[in-house]
Amino acid sequence: MLFGSKPHIELAHSYWEKLLHKGDLTIDATCGNGHDTCKLAEILQSKGGGQVIGIDIQQEALERTKGLLISKNLTGVDLFCQSHANFPAVSSPVRLIVYNLGYLPRGDKQLTTLTESTLESVHNAIKLIMTGGALSITCYPGHPEGAKEEKALIKEISHLPSETFSICYHTFPNRLAAPNFLWIQKKNAININN
Ligand SMILES: C[S@@+](CC[C@H](N)C(=O)[O-])C[C@H]1O[C@@H](n2cnc3c(N)ncnc32)[C@H](O)[C@@H]1O
Repeated sequence: MLFGSKPHIELAHSYWEKLLHKGDLTIDATCGNGHDTCKLAEILQSKGGGQVIGIDIQQEALERTKGLLISKNLTGVDLFCQSHANFPAVSSPVRLIVYNLGYLPRGDKQLTTLTESTLESVHNAIKLIMTGGALSITCYPGHPEGAKEEKALIKEISHLPSETFSICYHTFPNRLAAPNFLWIQKKNAININN
């Protein structure tokens, strides 16, 4: 596999392609401009259909996502304007939850994802995904809150038991301040109480 200019995105997409099946439910926890939401919908469409739940705290992000979905003629996506700290109720098991952390490109940089709510969300996401399901997290250590967020995330997930979770963490050492890609896959059923 030869990467182009955004290897973190290509890598994430290749993992999604491999993981997703017909009929799956997926969540994009940070819709932003809608590129990842569309990619999830496209993959599911190519596999025979499925559902995407898209979340963002900014209505502007959801408008952009909606516009992109319409322009690409993609369906099967429900959008929610709320924090991902807590997820909307779901009626079936979730295969994949995707985060592309940071702020909305061409938007207010103050409205970035924050360490505390990201950790709360990941904690909930780990409980929500089905066995065999995964979390895909793109981290942006190139800005101060992003660096703090990534460090806290890595510390938190390092405690997850290896018999239950398979975790890998891709960095791009020769690209200055490049985004990193984290993949957390649930291998077995778990019992996390708090
Ligand atoms: C880097 S952008 C996401 C890019 C997007 N996945 C794409 O493909 O264009 C990060 C997004 O996270 C959103 N965000 C920040 N804090 C959030 C929170 N607590 N819950 C949900 N979304 C949040 C921001 O509004 C922003 O749109």
